[in-house]
Amino acid sequence: IHREYWLNVTDKVISPDGYLKTEGKVVNGSYPGPLIEACWGDDITIHVTNYLKTNGSTIHWHGLRQLHTNEADGVNGVTQCPIAFGDTFDYKFKALQYGHSWYHSHYSLQYPDGVAGPLLIHGPSSANWDEDWTPILISDWSHRSAFQDFYVELGNSTSGVLGREPTMQSIVLNGTGSYTCDPSTDKNCLPQNKRKPIFSKVFQQGKRYLLRLINASTESAFVFTIDNHVLEVISTDLVPIHPFKTESIHIGIGQRYSVIVEAKPSAPVQKDGNYWIRTVVSDGCGTINQSKPEIGVIRYNAGSTALPTSTNHTGLSTLCADEPPENLVPVVPWPVDHQAVNDVLNDTFEAFVSNNVTHGALRWDLTDTPLWLNFSNPTILNLGNTTWNPEYAIIQESYDRGYVYIVITTQAIRKDPSKNTHSVAAHPIHLHGHDFVILAQSNQTYDVSATPKTFNFNNPPRRDVALLPAGNTGGYLAIGFKPDNPGVWLLHCHIAWHASSGLAMQILERQSEILPTIPSLDPTRKTCKGWDKWLA
Ligand code: C2O
Repeated sequence: IHREYWLNVTDKVISPDGYLKTEGKVVNGSYPGPLIEACWGDDITIHVTNYLKTNGSTIHWHGLRQLHTNEADGVNGVTQCPIAFGDTFDYKFKALQYGHSWYHSHYSLQYPDGVAGPLLIHGPSSANWDEDWTPILISDWSHRSAFQDFYVELGNSTSGVLGREPTMQSIVLNGTGSYTCDPSTDKNCLPQNKRKPIFSKVFQQGKRYLLRLINASTESAFVFTIDNHVLEVISTDLVPIHPFKTESIHIGIGQRYSVIVEAKPSAPVQKDGNYWIRTVVSDGCGTINQSKPEIGVIRYNAGSTALPTSTNHTGLSTLCADEPPENLVPVVPWPVDHQAVNDVLNDTFEAFVSNNVTHGALRWDLTDTPLWLNFSNPTILNLGNTTWNPEYAIIQESYDRGYVYIVITTQAIRKDPSKNTHSVAAHPIHLHGHDFVILAQSNQTYDVSATPKTFNFNNPPRRDVALLPAGNTGGYLAIGFKPDNPGVWLLHCHIAWHASSGLAMQILERQSEILPTIPSLDPTRKTCKGWDKWLA
């Protein structure tokens, strides 16, 4: 079946948490944008028109493989030119995975201002639940534009202040939050009767609900709980896993979990029948000005409007870490042959995260080189260019035998104290075009000869975002993927400030097999026409 959608990106003053954000940017008039829905195997066409007055735009379909459709990945500077004002770009791809995810602008710092929405691909129905919720975006939220916040992150070396994570003001669940302010003294603060009601859902006793969670944040990782309820986790990102039960789940930026929650079988213990949904910012993974983790309500009494009096039932772990790998066991294992295991020692690409200063501003790098994308000359228009800079790209012309292994470490920051200009941060690392296996993830020092021998090849977790942990002496994340998707793919930290200041690299994969639908192979499409005037 062919599905078709039309998305318009526009400027709009919005107030999801009850406080005006004058520089909001939205999809089809709302934040979050509309749900994009399809069935497994469908062909999808999405027409994106940009009406932003001062920005280009592109939309990325986070986690979707884009097998042989690199040109639909939506990465400005990599897979396409920015969509200019009034122009439309048609994204065409196949739904090859099922589950939920999100779409977001991949044009500079645009998604934190509101250009994001949910995406759902229906899979085989072995439904083990009674009701499937529309995917919910949970995000940190700032009242300032992302570009204003970015200057805080970059800092200024002459004043001696470099790289402070900007403080966000609240957490919004599906575009609703409740910022505390005083409308009588602050004209941007909306009175209660002008605000959106808090997110709430009704549970019927004994029924099972499928919650599809998405962390769509700019800089924050969360711990998600529902007071007095157990979460049964059944997928990581777009990968079904053997279910495990927990009272809280840790969600890094860009990560998704599907979680089944069983309603209480009999009369609710809480006398008013209302329970808080809480999202706590994980320590060291973002800063929220106002700690108000109660962001939604589960009601057993549909008529009730009271706020819950429930108190949390578990000591929340706020350590900035991913879920432990032993919990995240894929239902369909990824076969890794022994030859591939041997390749690890000979053939691992090492990239380290470091801080540097350029023009007096903080910079985040991989391999000491920041990836600063050229908006008007994206990589996809330069395929075959032999002067490629190997410091920020891996060239895999043909890699039929095994896997690509990439180890990302935070060691450079520790080894060279002059680069340790920023407090140690964990980084949610995201790869485009693939799911990857997590071979190792640690807050210890990476030892080039010893650590690879400890890699886990026994049905390791598989997903598209994993946290690179930060410890006192180091930290590393080792991933592997099969290079079976010709194209140029971004690997980056999903903290928006870090990606924008350079913590990214491009993976040029099987260049000679990239299909002729790619614009660079069309001689009439060698530049981003009309962009020079914007960028001069
Ligand atoms: Cu969620 Cu490069 O993106």
